[in-house]
Amino acid sequence: MAHRIVTLPGDGIGPEVLGAALGVLDEVGSFEYEEHPLGGVSIDAHGTALTEETLAACKQAESVLIGAVGGPKWDTTDPDKPRPEQGLLNLRRELKLYANLRPVRALPALYDSSPLKREVIEGTDLIVVRELTGGLYFGNRGRNGDSAYDTSTYSVAEVERIARAGFRAARTKVTSVDKANVLETSRLWRETVRRVHAEEFSHIPLEYGLVDAIAMQLVTSPTSFDVILTDNMFGDILSDEAATLPGSLGMLPSASIGDPGTPGIFEPAHGSAPDIAGQGVANPLAMIMSTALMLRHQFSMETEAAAIESAVDQALEAGLRTADLGGSATTAEATRAVLDNLQK
Ligand code: NAD
Ligand code: IPM
Ligand code: MN
Repeated sequence: MAHRIVTLPGDGIGPEVLGAALGVLDEVGSFEYEEHPLGGVSIDAHGTALTEETLAACKQAESVLIGAVGGPKWDTTDPDKPRPEQGLLNLRRELKLYANLRPVRALPALYDSSPLKREVIEGTDLIVVRELTGGLYFGNRGRNGDSAYDTSTYSVAEVERIARAGFRAARTKVTSVDKANVLETSRLWRETVRRVHAEEFSHIPLEYGLVDAIAMQLVTSPTSFDVILTDNMFGDILSDEAATLPGSLGMLPSASIGDPGTPGIFEPAHGSAPDIAGQGVANPLAMIMSTALMLRHQFSMETEAAAIESAVDQALEAGLRTADLGGSATTAEATRAVLDNLQK
C-alpha cells in the first residue's frame, strides 16, 4: 500500500524544492500525496498560517513534508498580525515533535565550496539534536507598556526525552550544549542529561559545553563533534552555523520526530529564500535529503534512503553545483542529476 504523505509546499522556494523532491521520491517507492496550505499562502487564503483542515490532515497522515514558509510580504512586528512561522511552530507543537535531527556532513566533493578551510572541515560528520517544542520558542511572551518579554521553561520530562533521542543518535559521543553558567533552564538541562546518561547510557562518552564556546569550536574543529544535544533556541542558531560545513544552507536536511508511530515533519533547515524565489535556481538537495530522512525514520526504508543519499553524493562528485555552491545548475538540472544517478 502506498504511504500517505501530506505535503505543505509553503512560500518562496518551498514549492520549487518540494516539487523536485517528490520526483525523486516517486523513483524509489509508491506514495500518495495530499497537498495543503501552510504559512503565508494560508494567511492569504484563510487568514491564518495553519488551518484546522491542514492540522487535521497532518495528524491523519503517515508523514509530513514541508518546503518552507515565510517572506517579506508577511513580515510584521505587530504581535496581533498572523505570521507564517507561527503555522510551522504550531504544527510542531500539535504533532508533539520534540526531537529535531539535523545531520551535517562535509562531502569530499564540496570541500572547496565551504567558506572554511578544507583541512578544518575534512571528515566532518555530526548531528545537531535540537529540542523542538519547548524553551524560549513556546514560553509566555508579551508586552508590558514599553517593555517586552519572552520566557524559557523546560521540565525534567522534556529534557529527559530529548536527551534519550540524543544518546540514541550517538555513534561516538554526545556533547550537551547549554549556558549553565547563567541560565536556570540550562542548569536543569545539565543535571538531567547527566542523570539520564548515568542511568541509561553510561557506555556513551558525554561532554558538556557552553554555547558561546561551542559556536566557535563548531567552525574551528567541527570534526571533534558527533552529536550536539541542545535546546530549541541554541539548536536553531547552531544548525544554521553548521551549514557552513557542507557549504550551504541548501545542503542541510532536517527531521522532526515525536513518539514512534506518529507522523513526523521532514523539511530542509533553510527558509523560503525570498532573494532567489521564483527563479528556479534554489538548491533542492536539502529537501531531497530530507525525504531520505523520512524514508529512514518514518518508514524504515533504509535501502531507499541510502540510495537517494548516494545519488546526491554521486551527482556532486560528477560536478553538480547550484548557484549557492558556486555553480550554475538550476533546480531542475540538479534534480535531473540526482534522478540520473538513482536510475543507474
Ligand atoms: P533563508 O534560509 O530563507 O535564506 C538564507 C540565505 O540562504 C539566502 O541568501 C538564501 O538565498 C540562501 N538559501 C537558503 N536556502 C537555499 C537553497 N535551497 N538554495 C540556495 N540558496 C538558499 O533564511 P532567511 O532569509 O533568514 O529567511 C527567509 C524566510 O524564511 C523568513 O520568513 C524566515 O522566517 C523563513 N524561514 C522558514 C523556515 C522554514 O520554513 N522551516 C526556516 C528558516 C527560515
Ligand atoms: C528552522 C526555522 C524555524 C525555527 C522558523 C521558521 C520558525 O528557522 O526550522 O530552523 O526557528 O525553528
Ligand atoms: Mn532556523
